[in-house]
Amino acid sequence: MKLNQIIKSVFATTALLSSAAAVHAAEVEVLHYWTSGGEAKSVAELKKIMEAKGVTWKDFAVAGGAGENATTALKARVIAGSPPTAAQIKGPSIQEWGQEGVLANIDAAATAGKWDSLLPKVVSNTMKYQGHYVAAPVNVHRVNWLWINPEVLKKAGAKVPTTWPEFFDAADKIQKAGFIAVAQGGQPWQDATVFETVALGVGGADFYNKALVKLDPATLTGPTMIKTFDTLGKIKGYIDKDAPGRDWNLATAMVINGKAGMQFMGDWAKGEFTAAGKQPGKDFLCAPAPGTAKSYTYNIDSIAMFKVKNPDSQKAQLTLATAIMSPEFQEVFNLNKGSIPVRPDIPRTKFDSCAIESMDDMAASSKAGTLEPSMAHGMAVSSAVQGAMFDVVSKFMHSNMTSQAAAQALAKAAKTQ
Ligand code: BGC
Repeated sequence: MKLNQIIKSVFATTALLSSAAAVHAAEVEVLHYWTSGGEAKSVAELKKIMEAKGVTWKDFAVAGGAGENATTALKARVIAGSPPTAAQIKGPSIQEWGQEGVLANIDAAATAGKWDSLLPKVVSNTMKYQGHYVAAPVNVHRVNWLWINPEVLKKAGAKVPTTWPEFFDAADKIQKAGFIAVAQGGQPWQDATVFETVALGVGGADFYNKALVKLDPATLTGPTMIKTFDTLGKIKGYIDKDAPGRDWNLATAMVINGKAGMQFMGDWAKGEFTAAGKQPGKDFLCAPAPGTAKSYTYNIDSIAMFKVKNPDSQKAQLTLATAIMSPEFQEVFNLNKGSIPVRPDIPRTKFDSCAIESMDDMAASSKAGTLEPSMAHGMAVSSAVQGAMFDVVSKFMHSNMTSQAAAQALAKAAKTQ
């Protein structure tokens, strides 16, 4: 082949390639950690909506509850200079990524969709970096739930606990009847989930806020924190010996299958019950954790967009952001996920009793000043403080550490920079 022929053929191939690239350019690569049964069903709905809009969905799923592994994968990609189009990050860590200068401005989608007037301020502020939207909110999860198998409860002759004495009474009866009282998994974030729920239940919303949001040293080391650890320590006695290493959804499965009576977990657990075809009120019960009926720890999932050069990818990001806030997505995703829509204007008709309770309790606690960000789920403190607190709680759960020593260590963790 002569040179100009080679050039011509290379040129033709390149032209072909670039036109093929143009066809496939409307693609979003989305890093997320929604891999359990209920989670996968939920994210599949977003994929469906995007593909109906002509955008190819490139799935970048990293298994691991609460996203610890996903964060590691994300860091590696950003450091390598090839961030995904979008990633599931939330809370104060959106600001941390914003400071790195890697997040994309999606104001165009937010302005067109009137996000400022639709979203509660606490949500819209979290989605913005330096006044510009960089992330789209997906849902609101409530963390302070207790999931219960009513059949196990009945066989044990126990009733749904609303206070800590009632909880330990129910746990004793469940254990005596030959079941595992508390289904628990093995990662630090799961221990932290139980810890913050106990803190809320033992000390109330004001105490929770002073200790786990404002990080007040006197509150972190005071008598209510000691009582929180004492209560957490007592719960340890109702967890089976195989908990270490267990994933949260396998702990939920123990409640679903009637092996265990109760689980402390946010309402992504409901996604597992729903995916297994179970009905609330009949096959499972959702109850605010003991002592927390009048308060609410929230966990808002969101998808942040990363700076990308390709104009088609930038357009696809706006399409993704618009899709996430659409009433269609907000309804179908949250029905599967166990959470509630972040938009207040979605009809309640298709939502079950647990979701309705979550909606009502969120509104009531917001009015009462008892709506609190979840420390365990990245809403309340920096990722550095959160990590240090996880270490303390985990150590407490898996050693003979005293409540006093744990409270002191927690106050030290709160100072992590
Ligand atoms: C996330 C949920 C997720 C859960 C388990 C939470 O931190 O907000 O979306 O289902 O972790 O991975």
